[in-house]
Amino acid sequence: MTTTYDTGKGATEFDTDVAPDPARRRFLVTSTSVAGGIGIAAAAWPFIASWNPSARARNLGAPVEVDISKIEPGAQVTVQWQGKPVWVLRRTPAMREHLASADLIAQLRDPDSEVASQQPAYAQNTLRAIREDVFVVIALCTHLGCIPTFRPEVAPADLGPHWHGGYFCPCHGSRFDFAGRVFKNVPAPTNLVIPPYHYVTDTVVQIGVDPEEAA
Ligand code: FES
Repeated sequence: MTTTYDTGKGATEFDTDVAPDPARRRFLVTSTSVAGGIGIAAAAWPFIASWNPSARARNLGAPVEVDISKIEPGAQVTVQWQGKPVWVLRRTPAMREHLASADLIAQLRDPDSEVASQQPAYAQNTLRAIREDVFVVIALCTHLGCIPTFRPEVAPADLGPHWHGGYFCPCHGSRFDFAGRVFKNVPAPTNLVIPPYHYVTDTVVQIGVDPEEAA
């Protein structure tokens, strides 16, 4: 039987005389469910995607490699590791000699790096490093986290005649030597923090991985 309905946009004929077909109905129900599932999956994807850490977040914690052969003696580079600035300094013989001087050591709060949390055990030595000529340190002041400035000059006008080079924090005036050791009578309570690191080759240092972990 054919029934005619007026939809308002002209007559339309529907075949109303066809017996219900259970197989067809199952197909329609299944198709609708699958389509609905796809719709939900598509709508959910942005949320699921947002659960995964982004590539940037993953990279923030990744180790960082520095080619020290490209750093001139007396100069340093800054890299980012775990969202923090890290300096890699090539120390000159004159810098190393000064770090061992009794005159400097007498001015330091923790010259032997006895506060264990500030460096790994393999950097708990006079120069706070695996290799004397290469200094790796997190560039954040241990007072309130400002980034100190690299001040390699000897006796500049603003730091006085006794300054032999090191790091100066402009926020509240803390001073550190070229081993990141803090001076007495400044706001910073402890030496700068040495991150985990090791040598991949003679000229490449990897920041973020301890020597034992890399072995
Ligand atoms: S943050 Fe460096 S001295 Fe205060």
